Amino acid sequence: MGSVYVVGSVNTDLVVRTPRFPVAGETVVGEAFATYGGGKGANQAIAAARMGARVGLVGAVGDDPYSEQRLADLVGDQVDIATVARRPRVAGGVALILVTQSGENAITIVPGANGTVTSDEVEAALRGRLGPGDVVCAQLEVPTPAVHAAMQIGREAKATTVLNAAPYRPDAREMLDLVDVLVVNDLEARQLVGVESEDISAMQVVERLQRLGTRNVIVTRGSHGALFALREARFGVPAPEVQVVDTTAAGDAFIGALVALLAEGRDWEVLAPRAVWAGALAVQRAGAQPSLPRRVEVEEAVRKVPLTVLP
Ligand code: RIB
Ligand code: NA
Repeated sequence: MGSVYVVGSVNTDLVVRTPRFPVAGETVVGEAFATYGGGKGANQAIAAARMGARVGLVGAVGDDPYSEQRLADLVGDQVDIATVARRPRVAGGVALILVTQSGENAITIVPGANGTVTSDEVEAALRGRLGPGDVVCAQLEVPTPAVHAAMQIGREAKATTVLNAAPYRPDAREMLDLVDVLVVNDLEARQLVGVESEDISAMQVVERLQRLGTRNVIVTRGSHGALFALREARFGVPAPEVQVVDTTAAGDAFIGALVALLAEGRDWEVLAPRAVWAGALAVQRAGAQPSLPRRVEVEEAVRKVPLTVLP
């Protein structure tokens, strides 16, 4: 079994539940406030670890109490944090999140220490350690050079490179030829190809992404499930119908399951429904990291309600 290396962000999520999003200048009375472990990097690392993978995280935190708690959470989930740097006199990443009654969210992130991760640190963490069978996975909440280094080193080591191009950044386009599996949501997919209107179909968007150099494209589509446009096949996996509480980190649960099962060497028929179910389990619970499912839950869900793979 290979290992999973995640190069990415560590955030503390400050979450307010609100009846609706306020408009500019408006004050709305919220219902609850909570603090959770978050950050796409840490979330995906923990999600993969809960799926049973051996996981290392490459990133940076600050020297504030939030950062200490985030490291403790990662260790609690058996994520190796030896390559998570601690920056003195810098704050760890923070995400300010509004969640409405229908489970929709709006997020503003302040990168803090996440913005200081360098390509040299990624080199030092991964070079010589990655090999075939391993999976290296990154998102766009740390600087582009660090993400690029992760994809480059992964490719050279013949590991499987996975990029979650979120949140959208135009310069992500330049590394797509280093990416084995690109995971984006509908909006990010359109942003990457530069067509935000509905003028072209989801499948046309995917084809353009593949022409940019990445072989396998997965588009996560919320309640519509996910579209898998792979080198060898194309199929959709519908999402199960569930009660949505908070969609935060649903994508991270999906990717965590994906990379964990890739490191196990599973094929797509095994992997796809489990990734979709991991996301569907995460939307039923509040908070980012507390909502990430364990392997047993995912297996039980898949057994109870098998997903149909469309032609
Ligand atoms: O993907 C969800 C995550 O995005 C949240 O945990 C928040 O920290 C933001 O980074
Ligand atoms: Na959630």
